[in-house]
Amino acid sequence: MIEFTLNGEAVSSDSPPDTPLLWVIRDELKLKGTKFGCGIAMCGACTVHLDGAATRSCSTPVADVAGRAITTIEGLATDSGKALQEAWVEEQVPQCGYCQSGQIMQADSLLQDNPHPSDEQITAAMNGNLCRCMAYTRIHKAINTAANGKGAKS
Ligand code: FES
Ligand code: FES
Repeated sequence: MIEFTLNGEAVSSDSPPDTPLLWVIRDELKLKGTKFGCGIAMCGACTVHLDGAATRSCSTPVADVAGRAITTIEGLATDSGKALQEAWVEEQVPQCGYCQSGQIMQADSLLQDNPHPSDEQITAAMNGNLCRCMAYTRIHKAINTAANGKGAKS
């Protein structure tokens, strides 16, 4: 049995230790906001926070999170997370929406480390999160809005 914290609540998994955390979150613990894209840590759709840091849950064995804290999009309650979600609505970011929870989790990890990132820093931090709908301009704008205010030039 592997025990960890999920969105502030103690949970446990009886999946084999090498089971990807993504499957445990979605199939065992029934939180569907975290998405499967590539399964090989190349797209960012599965991004969650592990002890506050953006982490690809598709390539993280559940055994690695024993005793640690996982946050998913369902539990994102930081001030920056709230600001991001408001900016996402304001800027009407999503198209199909599939990549978006991973995008927001990645963006929140950036803002936790750097509350007022420059355009270059936003681009660098979001580089590994793919969007097949090509919503990159709106994603970038929403992060800038959340971090630096609407219309900000960083
Ligand atoms: S599904 Fe994890 S990075 Fe693509
Ligand atoms: S909004 Fe469709 S993949 Fe990003």
